[in-house]
Amino acid sequence: MSRRRLLGAAGAAGVAVVGAAACTTEENRPQPQDALRGTVVAQTTDIPEGGGTIVIDGKLVITQPTEGEYKAFNAVCPHAGCTIQEVEENIHCLCHGSEFDISTGAVLAGPSQQPLEELAISVAGTDITLE
Ligand code: FES
Repeated sequence: MSRRRLLGAAGAAGVAVVGAAACTTEENRPQPQDALRGTVVAQTTDIPEGGGTIVIDGKLVITQPTEGEYKAFNAVCPHAGCTIQEVEENIHCLCHGSEFDISTGAVLAGPSQQPLEELAISVAGTDITLE
């Protein structure tokens, strides 16, 4: 390969690497719930007080820690990426046993070291909308 051709190939590879890096940063990586923003994801009447429900095919956890107070969390467990499977008085990931607080998403029991990601919602009537 000639020197000119070699440099051209190296330049193209560099552009490809820069382009790939720009598309895969944590900041701009699409999340499963992004497609749901601005849509009604649950009804308040389906969320038990002092507990919660997993909605939208396991993408979100909606809780009602106290009467009329609703919270939403990403249902992807921060430990190893399992989907949250159970909500009682706490949020449970049955894959390895992590438990999270229904009010804050904070870790109550490991192995997860990170809380669940809280998501903004609004409530109008009985509609819970993901912001
Ligand atoms: S993936 Fe949830 S506890 Fe391990």
